Amino acid sequence: MHILFVTSEVAGVFKIGGLADVSLSLPLALERKGIHVTVALPFYKDIDVSGVKGVGELAVDFAGNREIVFVFSKILGTSGGTLLLFRHPRLHSYHGSDIEEAFAFYSKVISTFYLYGTHLLKYPVDIVHCHDWHTGLIPLLIGERNKIVREKETLQSKEVKTIITIHNLLYQGVAKEDVIQDLGVPRDVFHIQKGKRGAAVSFLREAFEYADRITTVSPTYAKEIIEKSHHDALGNVLQRRRSTIAGILNGIDEGTWNPKSDTALAQSYDRTTVFSVKPALKAHLQKEAGLPAEHVPVFGFVGRIEPRQKGIDIVIEALADLLTTTPMQVVILGTGEPATVGALMQLTKKHRDKLAFVHAFDDGLARRIYAGSDVLMVPSKFEPCGLTQMIAMRYGTIPLVRATGGLVDTVADGTTGFVFDRYAGSDLARAMMRAHALWFGDRRAWKKLVQTVMEEDFSWDKSARTYIALYRKMISE
Ligand code: GLC
Repeated sequence: MHILFVTSEVAGVFKIGGLADVSLSLPLALERKGIHVTVALPFYKDIDVSGVKGVGELAVDFAGNREIVFVFSKILGTSGGTLLLFRHPRLHSYHGSDIEEAFAFYSKVISTFYLYGTHLLKYPVDIVHCHDWHTGLIPLLIGERNKIVREKETLQSKEVKTIITIHNLLYQGVAKEDVIQDLGVPRDVFHIQKGKRGAAVSFLREAFEYADRITTVSPTYAKEIIEKSHHDALGNVLQRRRSTIAGILNGIDEGTWNPKSDTALAQSYDRTTVFSVKPALKAHLQKEAGLPAEHVPVFGFVGRIEPRQKGIDIVIEALADLLTTTPMQVVILGTGEPATVGALMQLTKKHRDKLAFVHAFDDGLARRIYAGSDVLMVPSKFEPCGLTQMIAMRYGTIPLVRATGGLVDTVADGTTGFVFDRYAGSDLARAMMRAHALWFGDRRAWKKLVQTVMEEDFSWDKSARTYIALYRKMISE
């Protein structure tokens, strides 16, 4: 079985968020189980060229021109997966002025590659596995190609199946209708929407219409998006196609996230040494964050500083009150939107001895927060899966989460963390006070909690097996 895994980011090569982690660790987990996976990524100009070699070129028709795309390959990870990089001026930057246009082109590149370029691969492709809106037009384009396969002789004589995996429904990739002309596909195969700025095409909507299967990254998020379908532009497509939707929980890569081998930490530890090492790491963290070395619980937060998803707005609300009344410390790391960043900086000024905010994207510090905090807060408004709560648990730090999406599927109130329901500062504050009371009041119970979370299994093994079962089923249909 050979899977073409199409994504816009891969950890260690080019990373924006959690999708990058999944785009590295899931293919490697599949490879370990004997499935061939080729990961496809645009060759952005920031990507390091070491270890990259040319494998061929591809002619792609787009916007009335025949464009030449150069294909490169690189070994992925240590277990021998393959990464293919597609180089063209339209794909030079992720942060370009017209990101939808760039990814419409990328989708055309991949669908052309599947049809005319797979001789550059060792094995024929069985399934094209797409991720998020960036790759959303691929199932439609491949559907159109499949029609040609049926009618004419082509290099690829077999029809390929497609999957779209949703990592975040908030971003849908909505482009002006003109994009259709660039793709060279009849207008009537699209679902044109009347938007605020005229007629538009939603990449994710098209993926939901055309992909053979739709998956998302946790069972609870799958249920939520079918039931609520709170994103109007999608119409009722998720309801209509509910029988093709599955929620498969992400794992975390055991090698990347391991307190025993994490070089960002001053000392390494595991389940047997956690209680002797963690206090030193906590003291380091306090020092690094500029907080006094006090015997109080430290609450961490790592995530985007904007009110749409990760819940920093209710953190600010909760802290405004708690910091004046309660002996505790908070370390926050992230970048984001100016208004929220400003509000957080204001609050920091008032409580310098209790609150530290580092306005940066810093992988090393993030790791020291996962290891050095007592509690990691993930109070998201919505959360497709969430990786930080799982990482925290591996590092013996107790997650405090809101009951939404993948957080429901990974944290159990009282046994492996603290869970609250309503999206409000006061409810978050109450959950923080519960953690605070247990930390101060019952050391034995706290230690038990730490032991329990470190024993949880969040490896990719189980999820990889579920994906393989799904691939097999699709191929046999
Ligand atoms: C997105 C989601 C996050 C998920 C990640 C990987 O970043 O917001 O919840 O864990 O993708 O699937």
